[in-house]
Parts: sequence; structure tokens; C-alpha cells
Amino acid sequence: MRVLSGIQPTGRPHWGNFFGAIRQYIDLQHNHDGYYFIADLHALTTVRDPAILRQYVLDAALDLLALGLDPKKATLFVQSHVPEVSELCWLLMTGTGMGLLERCHAYKEKKARGLPADAGLFTYPVLMSADILAYDAELVPVGQDQVQHIEVCRDLAASFNHQFGEVFVLPKPNVLSDAAKVPGTDGQKMSKSYDNTLPLFGEEKKIRKAIMRIVTDSRPMEDPKEPDDDHLFQLFRLLAGAEDVEKMAALYRRGGFGYGEIKKAVADASESFFGPARERRRELESDPGYVQQVLEDGAKRARAKASEVLLRAQKACGLR
Ligand code: TRP
Repeated sequence: MRVLSGIQPTGRPHWGNFFGAIRQYIDLQHNHDGYYFIADLHALTTVRDPAILRQYVLDAALDLLALGLDPKKATLFVQSHVPEVSELCWLLMTGTGMGLLERCHAYKEKKARGLPADAGLFTYPVLMSADILAYDAELVPVGQDQVQHIEVCRDLAASFNHQFGEVFVLPKPNVLSDAAKVPGTDGQKMSKSYDNTLPLFGEEKKIRKAIMRIVTDSRPMEDPKEPDDDHLFQLFRLLAGAEDVEKMAALYRRGGFGYGEIKKAVADASESFFGPARERRRELESDPGYVQQVLEDGAKRARAKASEVLLRAQKACGLR
């Protein structure tokens, strides 16, 4: 089964991105035909500095490879390296009702706040549909916020098929579990917009410092606590092995510990969990030729598939 996901290159990933999304779709590479791309055309709706965009795209590739995306198993590529997708986007655009796009939340919310929106943002869901349909993708792992876009994609594909014959495969969303809820340094959900994130990559010392600054509740440390209610424990649980998690839970229930101890345990666990990926990222960084080769190979494979689908669509609607 072909699984596809697009990753927006918009800066440095944090623990929330990893546990909430990246890890889950990288895992799918083992028993699916994985297509993963860096959505640079989509990023252009927000990133308007060429040097930064270039850097973000490279960073996204390094991050994904360092975190375990295996180019021997999956196809990793950059969205804009497959121009067939933009052509397909136009074909889909011609059949897309304005009302459908007006209801899409990214545009609607911007409009409601009185902010200027451009046609790129307005037609974003059509490009996203082309991203998916160009590769006959069957399964699309996405966060809850993207489910509406998958529905748009299914709508557009179904109406094209209805008019021109069976051209597109209708994809299914695979909504990522948010069971792995990741609290931020202030105890709220970890999110860039709350400025409470812990970075995946970066200097160990800095990450350790950020962990030591995580806010804790004001209950006296001597009292026993229910571990599940405590965000430090929630972080620890994501990083440590089952046995250590059990031991830590027992410590919470017993009481009489200091939060400093727990923070140190979280920092140590984070180091053993993310240390190898950080090391791997450093190696990749020093070998830009390799990363470029991976992206070139990926684009080649992706283009072969996308041109096949584009031709199918062109023939169906009378362009060929
Ligand atoms: N819109 C997605 C996001 O913001 C990224 C994306 C672009 C995508 N094209 C896609 C995801 C196709 C899945 C399939 O996260």
C-alpha cells in the first residue's frame, strides 16, 4: 500500500512534532511503500526569504534522515522537484468550486481575522490534492487539522473521475494518534505558538538547561503524586524504557523526591533517546553530497510515477 505524507519545512522540529507526527509516519515506511516529501511550494505561502527557504528545505531533509527515514525503503523528495504536480494542480483547479475552498479553515480563519490572504493560500488544498493524487497514494497520515484537506482531495478526485473516467485513486486519511501528547515547558501542549518547545536537535547543554527550567507545580515535593497528572512524568514516559517508567511511577506514588531529580532523569533519558539521531545528523551535515543524491534519486522515482498519472489525467480530459 502506498503511503504519502508532506512535511512543511518551516524551521526546527520539536519533541511535539516528533512524537505527534514524524515518528508515526516514519514507522509506516517498514510495511508500506512510503513517499515522503518536503513541501517547499506550500512553505512559499509563508516563507518569503530565499536563503531561509533553502536552509529550511535542507534542514528538513537532514532531520528526517537523522530520525530514521530510510531512503532504501522510502522515497524522500522535494515537492517542487516534481513539476508534474503543479500541472496536475491546474487540471484539478478547473473543477474546484470556489465555495469548497472558501470553507477550508486555513483561508477562512485568516479572512475572519481580517488578514490579507493570497491565491496561494486560497488554493492550498488543491495543490495538496495534487500532491496526493500524483502518486496514486492510498493512505495519508495527517494530524487532525489536515483531515479537511484530505476530504477536499477525495471530493476533487471523485468529481474528476465522474467527469472523465477512473483516473485517480481515492486516498484515505490515517489520523495520527495524539495519544502521545507532549507537554511543553509550561505544561500546556507543546507548540511553537506557545513558545514552550524543546528542540529535537541542538546543543545538548542547551536542551538540558531548557529541561531544568520546565515549570513544576507548587505542591510540596514530599507528597505522593499521581504520575499521570504530572507533565514531567509525561515527558519521561515518552523517552524511557518500560522498566524505568515503572520505577519512576513508583517514586511519584511514594513521594519524597525533588523535581530536580526528575528533571535530571528526563534530561538523561532525552540524551539517550535523541543523542544517536543528533550524532547521525552531524554526520549527514558533513556529507552534503549524500543528502543531495538521496533527494535526486527520490525526485527521479517520484517523477516517474507522477508523469504516468499526469498523462492518464491529460488523456482523460482531452489534453492529449
Ligand atoms: N499541509 C500539510 C501540513 O501543513 C503538508 C502537506 C502538503 C501534506 N501536502 C501534503 C500532507 C500532502 C499530506 C499530504 O502539514
